[in-house]
Amino acid sequence: MAADGLFRLVQSDIERVLFDGPAIHKRLDEIATQITADYSDRKLVVIAILTGTLMFTSDLLRRIPLPLKLNCLSVASYHGKTQTSGEVFFKELSVPEVAGQDVLILDDILDTGYTLAAVREKLETARPRSIRVCVLLSKRKRRARNVDADYTGFEIDDEFVVGYGLDFMERYRNLPYIGVLRKELLAD
Ligand code: IMP
Ligand code: MG
Repeated sequence: MAADGLFRLVQSDIERVLFDGPAIHKRLDEIATQITADYSDRKLVVIAILTGTLMFTSDLLRRIPLPLKLNCLSVASYHGKTQTSGEVFFKELSVPEVAGQDVLILDDILDTGYTLAAVREKLETARPRSIRVCVLLSKRKRRARNVDADYTGFEIDDEFVVGYGLDFMERYRNLPYIGVLRKELLAD
């Protein structure tokens, strides 16, 4: 089946598109310009939280012409459902060596904040010079922990979204846009 046909098949699961490829890329241009200016005389280390940030990281970092370093972390808090468990599991045992460096954490979506609060706490033990957070999406209404992002792609309502790296039970990550998943598919 041609790629086009495959996307049409998946598209029937999407209620509506929130941000298409061009809209995402336009916003990434703006955020990248801001990050480039803010970190021009810093030792930037980007820590991307996998897997949801794969596309975001790749598209954002290619817009930042600084001598940065990239590290990835894997965490899990979901277990396939749409509600966070509040507990965050790290798949790596070691903390990246970021002492004295300026860390920018990238995450796909800031929801309750449990994930970013846990990652931030863990990275602080490695004594970086600074830590900032950059997220593609933010659902402000759902915040349970006191964490905020320094750079946010888009604020969204409390709806479950997929695509451009974001998944529901590991599917839909390859959609080239961000869309709201049909509610009946979320029932478990
Ligand atoms: P938090 O710990 O509740 O802030 O959860 C953040 C993580 O939950 C994100 O990195 C995503 O993996 C996942 N998540 C939260 N909302 C959504 C959504 O609407 N679609 C897909 N994943 C989501
Ligand atoms: Mg995730």
